[in-house]
Amino acid sequence: MTDWLGDPSGPGARWTASLAWVIFLVFLAVIAAVWALLGYLMLRGRRGSFAEHLPWNEGGGKGWVIAFGLVAPAVVFLGCFIGSLVVMDAVPIEGAHHHDMAMKPEITVTGHQWWWEVRYNGPDVFTTANEIHIPAGRPVTIELKSNDVIHSFWIPELHGKVDLIPGRDNTITIEADVPGRYEGQCAEYCGEQHALMRMAVVAQDDAAYKAWRYKESQPAILPQSEPAITGLEVFEMKSCSTCHTIRGTRALATVGPDLTHVAGRAQLAANAIPNSHAYLAAWIVRAQTLKPDSEMPNLDQLTGDELTALVAFLRTLQ
Ligand code: CUA
Repeated sequence: MTDWLGDPSGPGARWTASLAWVIFLVFLAVIAAVWALLGYLMLRGRRGSFAEHLPWNEGGGKGWVIAFGLVAPAVVFLGCFIGSLVVMDAVPIEGAHHHDMAMKPEITVTGHQWWWEVRYNGPDVFTTANEIHIPAGRPVTIELKSNDVIHSFWIPELHGKVDLIPGRDNTITIEADVPGRYEGQCAEYCGEQHALMRMAVVAQDDAAYKAWRYKESQPAILPQSEPAITGLEVFEMKSCSTCHTIRGTRALATVGPDLTHVAGRAQLAANAIPNSHAYLAAWIVRAQTLKPDSEMPNLDQLTGDELTALVAFLRTLQ
């Protein structure tokens, strides 16, 4: 099973997974004990008082109340609480007050309703969205910010949930043992499209990661043939450029995701839909059907030719 808490692929997630398994097994044991007692009482029949049927019932069963009503729950919950504290301590999360001493985090992820802005802080500085590439087998620091409300960053196979809180920056360190695509999801309710605020971490071997970074840091390669040339004009002249950036063109707005290399991403709309020709066209004209209330409007005033050109252009942005 993939993309699941119980199948960790990084050090942070291993701690969380161990705790989850321990708590799961403890509670299975509690449930088994309760059902065993219940079964025992049912087999003994229903006559007399409840406590009479229990073994060890001096004082009308007070001992049972104390042992299993107070002591046992206290031990179980205290154990889970201490376990959680140990895991919290082991998983590297830092508040803003540590920043001065630490180096600038490698990546800054900013939560927006409802997508993820992903900024690489250097040496080559660039911005992308919803798909975070990291080198496999080495820890990467990520700073978490919010542009609006509280979101929560969670790649179940790599680390525990960490909130993105307006005005308070958190930093986490994540690591993926092996190359692969690790899917994640906003884990804090943040409005109507919270469920479609998805993201992915793509862990790559060193060579592939370096190649990806180089490609992403470059401006877009502008189209040389029709209909993509017309598509670029449509992008710059119609409303696209009032919200999006494509580096190397006149579109420099930052309301929506940076689309400089959008064709290189596997999914669109915060990973709500596949990044295919048909879905891209559908997203442009019917975003409000696919993801109601998102900032992306229905661009249904485009002519068929304009849409064809626009999609052709965006598909060139590898
Ligand atoms: Cu962002 Cu839920």
